[in-house]
Amino acid sequence: MFTLAHLSDIHLAPLPAPALHELMSKRAFGYVNWQRRRHQHRRDVLDRLMADLIAQKPDHVAMTGDLVNIALPEEFRQARAWLDGLGIGGPKAITVIPGNHDAYVPFLRNPGVRHWQPYMLPNAAAARFASPSGSAFPFVQLFGEIALIGLSSARPTFPGMASGWLGRRQIAEVGPILDALGAENFCRVVLIHHPPLPGMTSWQRGLHDASAFRDVLARHGAELVLHGHNHRAMIASLGAATGMVPIVGAPSASLASEQPAKRAAYNLFGIGRGGNGGWQLAMRSRVFDLDGRVEEVRQELLL
Ligand SMILES: [Fe+2]
Ligand SMILES: [Fe+2]
Repeated sequence: MFTLAHLSDIHLAPLPAPALHELMSKRAFGYVNWQRRRHQHRRDVLDRLMADLIAQKPDHVAMTGDLVNIALPEEFRQARAWLDGLGIGGPKAITVIPGNHDAYVPFLRNPGVRHWQPYMLPNAAAARFASPSGSAFPFVQLFGEIALIGLSSARPTFPGMASGWLGRRQIAEVGPILDALGAENFCRVVLIHHPPLPGMTSWQRGLHDASAFRDVLARHGAELVLHGHNHRAMIASLGAATGMVPIVGAPSASLASEQPAKRAAYNLFGIGRGGNGGWQLAMRSRVFDLDGRVEEVRQELLL
């Protein structure tokens, strides 16, 4: 049994003080927003959940984006130090993909995400599944019979928008990669920041090529899709040629909310072979309650 932990949207606090010139972009809007929401994303909540996660000793950890808030250069350095400082094995034990908050300004003008590159690279075992165009996404990492497929839906957008898109190239490349992994009987776990199906969030916050991506998933299949972005626990599914695909969204791992679905939490997936040779998945959520306790909730996947 392989145990995969999934968390998302840590929105690492505290926010370093921005220099004035760093606010000459979408960041100015984000900074005002963050000031309004800063008491919601709490470092102590995240620290408590991470201590619990480490005690659960998962085999691997996946993080689906929004590590930072307004993409300040110093935030990327802080997030890298946070990843390295977890003490659970660094890039060998943690996989990261970016979210929209990690891409407030174009990647080329803000090389911040490069600070996390060791956490977003194909591992040696997966070299033969690399993007045919040599692009950073999609990337594949293999851990025994488990394959993580990392996608990036993170794009700079206009102020007030939190949308994303994969783009034609990523969508064209990921289908054959899913097929090749499926042909070798890997358990294919897709990581994407935005909820991947049409209608899972508003247009302003949504994945703008969700229909095209849904069609790729339906044609090529996957065993599990993990996402974040909505700051809400979500479980959906999609009928695919290779069977039902559970689609699970984790809430923010730092949000202190009174709404049960928005409480800070992370998910644990137990992945193993069933009697018929197919994959069996069991899901548990570890949820922070407002008293500072972490309680476990077993979840039914829609299969
Ligand atoms: Fe977020
Ligand atoms: Fe997001």
